[in-house]
Amino acid sequence: MDIIWHSKSKHFHLFNEKISYIMGVTPLGDLGGIYFGRRIHDKDDMSYAYNRFTLPNVVVDPDTESYSMELNLQEYPCYGTTDFGTCAYETELSNGSKISSFVYKDHRIYEGKTSIKGLPATYADDDEAMTLEVYLEDEVAKLTLTMSYTIFENYPVVARHAAFTNNGATRVKLARALSACLDLPDQDYEWIQFSGAWARERMPVVRKISEGALSIESRRGISSANQNPFVIIKRPQTDEERGEAIGMSLVYSGNFIAKAECDTFGRTRLLMGINPDMFAWPLEKGATFETPEALIAHTCEGLGDLSRTFHDLYNNNLIRGKWKNTARPILNNNWEATFMDFDEDKILKIAKKAADAGVELFVLDDGWFGKRNDDTAGLGDWTENPAKLPQGIAGLARKINALGMKFGFWIEPEMVNPDSDLYRRHPDWALATPGRKSSLGRHQLVLDFSREEVVDCIYGMLKKVLEGAPVSYIKWDMNRSLTEVFSNAYPADEQGTVYHRYVLGVYSLYERLTGDFPDILFESCSSGGNRYDAGMLYYAPQTWCSDNTDAIDRIRIQYGTSFGYPISSIGAHVSASPNQQTGRSTPISTRANVAYFGTFGYELDLNKLSDEEFAEVKEQIKFMKENRELLQFGSFYRLRSPFENDQASWMVVSKDRKKAIFALYCMRSNVNQLPGYLRLSGLDPDRRYTFAGQMFYGDELMNLGATLKLLNKKALATGQDFVSYIEVIDAVD
Ligand code: GLA
Repeated sequence: MDIIWHSKSKHFHLFNEKISYIMGVTPLGDLGGIYFGRRIHDKDDMSYAYNRFTLPNVVVDPDTESYSMELNLQEYPCYGTTDFGTCAYETELSNGSKISSFVYKDHRIYEGKTSIKGLPATYADDDEAMTLEVYLEDEVAKLTLTMSYTIFENYPVVARHAAFTNNGATRVKLARALSACLDLPDQDYEWIQFSGAWARERMPVVRKISEGALSIESRRGISSANQNPFVIIKRPQTDEERGEAIGMSLVYSGNFIAKAECDTFGRTRLLMGINPDMFAWPLEKGATFETPEALIAHTCEGLGDLSRTFHDLYNNNLIRGKWKNTARPILNNNWEATFMDFDEDKILKIAKKAADAGVELFVLDDGWFGKRNDDTAGLGDWTENPAKLPQGIAGLARKINALGMKFGFWIEPEMVNPDSDLYRRHPDWALATPGRKSSLGRHQLVLDFSREEVVDCIYGMLKKVLEGAPVSYIKWDMNRSLTEVFSNAYPADEQGTVYHRYVLGVYSLYERLTGDFPDILFESCSSGGNRYDAGMLYYAPQTWCSDNTDAIDRIRIQYGTSFGYPISSIGAHVSASPNQQTGRSTPISTRANVAYFGTFGYELDLNKLSDEEFAEVKEQIKFMKENRELLQFGSFYRLRSPFENDQASWMVVSKDRKKAIFALYCMRSNVNQLPGYLRLSGLDPDRRYTFAGQMFYGDELMNLGATLKLLNKKALATGQDFVSYIEVIDAVD
């Protein structure tokens, strides 16, 4: 890994063993792109990369008379001069002008990586990464632009963000400030986005890039289940194991945009950042605005490799604290077992059975506080309901501890029900536009987290509950999109800051709670997977993946999620059958075989199971305890897609390739088929492994494939839907 500055030709080369990122100061003095991809040799002069000629109908810079941004790759383009594509940023001066021109002044190269104030970001020790900061100035606007690029030693990843500082005497408006722009010289790409909705999150959608733009965005105030702030562009022939692809992820949990734009010269521009819709940031004299971080990864070894890059990067350089790379406790959550209809006795009865089964953590979900007996009341009143918990959270936590389990509970700190003491005291604390109706989601309003006193108040209430109780886990929920966004705390010309300030408020509460209670494991949740993003993982190392706990639907949801997010982060539980969301009945073995590839737990009352099922649950817990490090932190390989086949398959392999766990799921049975072969992945080609009771070479299993006829007869090809098969594969010597 190194970052080289070629002072004569004025270009930077950031590289590690796998990738090169090359860009430099253009004839105009701004930053232009040269190359991003597989590692190439370093060279003193790459100024041939700039097109210093013109074409018919092209407008050029008046000084050079031969250079147009339109014909050159940009690093962080603005609109209004000679680049006509989507811009990365937009400033507006007090006279209304929107043109800007940032010119290179200086740069700094250093070991390691600095943090971004108030925002989540990847981190790195001095030997793990190098950072380049390029300082550019717009002399007319009196603005400094700092472009940051970090290259990691061990990952084919560049982290980018930008910062604007106002050095002038007058306020400047930032109307757009995206995190990254990557201009690529051709258009031979397909784009993959991860789209969905509640209960069907992160379904991969592939679209061809061609003239014009493809884009996804969120305007919900959260990253959303509808679109995810992670996209891939790949060569058409790229598959799981082969071929070039680039992934871009935004470390941010609010409104975002991701866009791929192809121009008339067949070049592709990839952009990502805070959604400029409803964003306007007044930059006062002396103030700085920092964008969130965008992570750009490259591979020549297929989509599987790209995913594993993000998995390892997040596990090692994004997730923090005690739970970083630590196997997650097996939990039992009472939500689908009781909903809000519980008291302490009922909970303890469920918990007792969970403890008997070997569960390690009991989680009390929604309904323990205020006057919360259904979803119409209580949010905002974070004090225990004595009718349900006579000795409060602390009393219940101690009783759960006495059963041999840790204890955790549910909160939804960003929300308020109109029927709550908090709202009656502070009706102006909810986001609401004067003179307009306030839309309700699940009977609740969104608290104005852009205001410090609101965040302080919620922090105070939660801290009080937490301080007195042995709490090991928090599920932080967020159950509606933001609407009628307006804050009483800011003047008219600052209303465009509220969406972003809201996200900063959420992050600040997370920062305070995780700082005060460093041992607590946080799981983020937003009606399931409405806020599954890299920003959240910085504070909460796992995310409740979906409210849809149906094992067959979960195969697709978890498969889609795995493209961008590590298995250690995927909240996945065994729930009751028939499933509460889909009505589908599935074997308890299949429900566990899916949930193993996640944080694992139970979302039901184990008392309701038959003796045989309960015995099976005990075995499942034993299996998970033995294998969770491998399942959660091993290298994950997608083998067969549930979107293209009636069977799905995936596996994890230990980093030393001596052990693997293979799983196969039958989503729809097919008659009169040969069982065929399934190619495994990630094994050592020269090692011998035991699989299905026989010995195979790694290369045999990965090239010929595993013959499915050897697998458990009961599990496969018996004409039964929803059966599944799992096996631990061990190296023989
Ligand atoms: C959301 C969550 C669920 C559960 C309920 C409680 O829907 O996703 O898991 O916690 O809220 O109200």
